[in-house]
Formats: sequence, structure tokens, C-alpha cells
Amino acid sequence: MIEFFLNGQPQRVAVTPDTSVLELLRGPLGQCGTKEGCASGDCGACTVAIAHPQDGHPQDGHPQDGHPKGAPRALAYRTANACITPAHQLQGAHLITVEGLARGDALHPAQASMVACHGSQCGFCTPGIVMSLFALHEQQRKTPDAALDPHRLEASLDGNLCRCTGYRPIRDAALSMGDRADVRPPWADDPALEKQIRALTRQPAEADDDSSTPGYQTPATLAELIATMQRHPEAPLVAGATDLWLDVTQRLERFDTLIDLRQVRELRQIEEEANGWWIGAAVTYREWEPLLAEHYPAFAHLLTRLGSDQIRNRATVGGNIANASPIGDTPPVLLTLDARLRLAGPEGIRELPLESFFLDYKKTALEPGECVAAIYLPQPRADHELRVWKLSKRREDDISTLLGAFRWRLRDGVLADVRVAFGGMAATPLRLQAVEAALEGQAPGEDAFEIAKQALRDSLTPMSDARGSREYRLTAAVNLLERWRLTLARADSNVPTPEVALDAYAH
Ligand SMILES: Cc1cc2nc3c(=O)[nH]c(=O)nc-3n(C[C@H](O)[C@H](O)[C@H](O)COP(=O)(O)OP(=O)(O)OC[C@H]3O[C@@H](n4cnc5c(N)ncnc54)[C@H](O)[C@@H]3O)c2cc1C
Ligand code: FES
Ligand code: FES
Repeated sequence: MIEFFLNGQPQRVAVTPDTSVLELLRGPLGQCGTKEGCASGDCGACTVAIAHPQDGHPQDGHPQDGHPKGAPRALAYRTANACITPAHQLQGAHLITVEGLARGDALHPAQASMVACHGSQCGFCTPGIVMSLFALHEQQRKTPDAALDPHRLEASLDGNLCRCTGYRPIRDAALSMGDRADVRPPWADDPALEKQIRALTRQPAEADDDSSTPGYQTPATLAELIATMQRHPEAPLVAGATDLWLDVTQRLERFDTLIDLRQVRELRQIEEEANGWWIGAAVTYREWEPLLAEHYPAFAHLLTRLGSDQIRNRATVGGNIANASPIGDTPPVLLTLDARLRLAGPEGIRELPLESFFLDYKKTALEPGECVAAIYLPQPRADHELRVWKLSKRREDDISTLLGAFRWRLRDGVLADVRVAFGGMAATPLRLQAVEAALEGQAPGEDAFEIAKQALRDSLTPMSDARGSREYRLTAAVNLLERWRLTLARADSNVPTPEVALDAYAH
């Protein structure tokens, strides 16, 4: 049994571990405004907005963001793909769907703008687009005098596809929301309702929290998590579910039991140390982004190309590492940053370099009963540089064909501390030590890079698949080395590094 609010109304419903938010809405709750298109998180037709009061707590975010410790934040409504969001994760949340925006006949600005700008034709994508615009409008209301940042606008819509109108009228709708009457949804700005939402616990109401029976298990601490994993050794772990749920919708798997990581306190926090940060495995990209933007802008820039807003709001770095996909975006970057992992299991905690974690295709160093607890991100040295280039068929919301990450510093005109890693080139994300050795201690000229390119050709036999042939991948990887060389040459001649311009054709 879970308890949550739907468009301001209290709900108490029974769900199984494999019920999605979309199934719950369109089935038992009879709310069919939210559509199903792809059922895989790609099209955005099922977009809803979810606020979890606890997610606003400083422990869940960047500890340096200046928010007074312990003070409750305003509820933040974040978009999610209802098709791949487990329904039990609604416990304690406020769920907003397209049915909940208009006040009587008065349309919400997101809806009024779509009508006025002719942003809808067949209408199938429209509820999802309206929900993404709603979330954008909520953010804009916090800074009403600021012009809408074009990057924010694009990010807000990067998880929504429309086959009919084209995107210009939808973009126009986004740009003109601020000019319309600020009709507030009936449930908004109601302190009594907000108090009721905050009073809900994050733990399910009854029965399902009997930890010996199947169902969704929601441990609150790392010790409880390890004990739950021992009681249910076959049960999958779930964090954002943006990978795992494709097993349900695409491979039609069913789960008797799921172990949810999103409430495990130790996995949800970012711990700062003298020389770096331990990022809890269940920290989402949205929560991690401010820290990366401050210390690793090139890494933060990559996040704008990882999935969509809906995905980034829910997906976790722990899920990206633990699923050990050869085309996961964060592992190659983390390899160049000498990241380490903290693994937790029945024998206690152990640490190992990320490089030792990936053993073979989808095989990791996790022992039975172990999970990834946290990822250590060292603080950058002031003179370290990082570049990350992702090549994918589509710019928005697409998995990498390949991704190259490069870290270095220049010491007396020669390259030092060189790290080179690639995703999409082998069965696992890979650090290329032969390429690093070819460049370490060398001036970054054509000669050194020719040797490095040959080392790359000699050390890799990439796979061929629907995203790219072996030949394409090898050529593109060599070309990324050339791009890096040109970046260094331009930096040397004081021409600003053309990161954004280069990225414009990196897809
Ligand atoms: C539309 C779409 C676009 C995407 N785009 C990208 C992209 O551009 N780049 C990219 O890299 N990925 C992308 N992904 C994949 C996915 O979003 C990421 O891999 C994400 O980081 C997974 O995190 P999660 O929390 O959702 O993992 P989940 O789905 O919850 O879990 C993934 C797997 O890891 C296991 N697991 C999770 N956490 C732990 C842990 N702490 N310890 C041990 N095991 C654990 C789970 O059991 C499961 O097997 C995309 C997915 C979708 C649906
Ligand atoms: S139905 Fe396409 S993203 Fe959910
Ligand atoms: S209006 Fe038809 S898909 Fe967008």
C-alpha cells in the first residue's frame, strides 16, 4: 500500500513491485491524459511531474549550495517518464499530471501558450510537452525577471518528441509562457496541502515493509540494505529505474521483489573531504550537477548530453556504473579522474579503483551481496584540464556511439598526468595506457600525436553494431585524438578553446 497525493488529492493504493506510474494512472486511477508512446523513456509522451519533499533536504543535494542546514525547501516539481518510473516510488510524493493544471476553464500558461502558438496537432505528444513546460514554468517563476536561458529551454524539452508540428511552435510556446496570465493550478500555493504532503512518510504505509515477504523493499540505511540483500539475494536493486525498467517494458520481465536504493541515507548524500567528494551511489545527475559545474565544467557539459531532463532528474551515477554498460557516459570520464569506488557488503566496506571494477561485458568486481555505495571524485588540480566528447546519432536523448575523455596538464610545455579513456570501443569502458604513455612527457605536437594515434589503433578492436561499424569507431576515436591536439594548439595560440563550437558537430 502506498500513500501519495495526485493533483492535490490524497491517494492510498496497492501496487506490485512491477507496476509503473503510467500503469497506475491509466489503470486503477483512471487518469488517461498521460499517454504511452514508446514505453522506454525516449518519447516523453508519458511525462509527469513529481515532488518528493525529502528530496529537497540539503542532505540530498550539494552540501555547498548555501541552503541553511535542516530548513525545508519549497517543493520542487521535476519531470519523469511515467512509463519507466516504479509506482511504489510515489510513496510520500506529490504527483502532477496534465489533468491537474487548469483552474476550471482557465488554462495554465503552459497550456494557453501551446494553444496560442499552435503547438499541438494530433495531440499525442501534447500532454507530455505541457508537463515539461509546466516544470520549466515553475522554475521560471522563481526568477521572474531573468530572461529564459536558451540552454535551459532546450534541456527542458530534450526528452519530448513531436512528429506533427515541428518544434518551432512548441519553442514559441515555451518562450511566451511568461507573458500570459499566471493561472495557478488549484492545488498550488496551499500551505495546508503542503503540510499534509510533508507529513507523509517516505516508507510505505503497511504490509510491504514486512521485510521478510516479497514486494518492494525500502531500506533506510546501508546496514538495512545489506541485510535486505541477504534476505532477498535474487531481488534486483533499483535506483532511478531508467535502465532496469526497460526489462519490464521491453523484455516483459516481472519482479516479485525489488530492493529500492532511493531512501538509503548513506547512498543519497555527498560527503566532502579535504581532497574530494564521496558521491552516494543513489545521487541523481540533477543533484550532482551543481558540484560538477563548479569543479569540472567539461563533465557538467557532458551531462547536458546524457539522456533528457526526465532521465537526469531520476537516474543515478551508481546505476550508470553498476550496469557496466560499455557505452555508459560517466565511466570513461571518471576513469580519467582516477575515481575510486566504495563497495558495501556483508563483509563490510571495501574500496577499489574504478579501473578494477569493470571485468568484462556487463561483468563487475561486485561479489554476491555487495552493492556500489559511493564514488570518490578527487578535487581537480588547478592546472589540470579535462575534455569530453560524446558522439551519438542524435544530439538529444541518445546513448553514445563512442565517447572520449582526456585529462592532462602542461608542465614546462610538455604533457603530464595524461589520462585517456574511451567508452563504446570495447566490452567495458577502457583507459588507454598505451596512448597515455605515448604522450606523457611529450610536447603536444603532431609527432607525438601520430605515435599516440598508432598506439590507439594497435590497442583497440572496437565492436560493430547498429550505432557504428568497427571502422567508423576506430576512425572517429583517432579523430578525437586529433581534435584534442587541435584544442591544445589553439590554447597555445591564445584562441579560446572552442568547446561549444566543436560540440555542435559532435553528434
Ligand atoms: C531514454 C534514455 C536515455 C538514456 N541516455 C543515456 C545516456 O545518454 N548516457 C548514459 O550513460 N546512459 C543513458 N541511459 C541509461 C541510464 O539512464 C543510465 O545508465 C543511468 O545512470 C542509470 O541509473 P539508474 O539510477 O536509473 O539505474 P537503475 O535502472 O535503477 O539500475 C541500473 C542497474 O544497476 C543496478 N544498480 C543500480 N544502483 C546500484 C548500486 N548502487 N549498486 C549495485 N547495483 C546497482 C540495478 O540493479 C540495475 O541492474 C538512458 C536511459 C534511457 C531510458
Ligand atoms: S511512453 Fe515514451 S517516454 Fe514514456
Ligand atoms: S502533435 Fe502529433 S506528435 Fe506532436
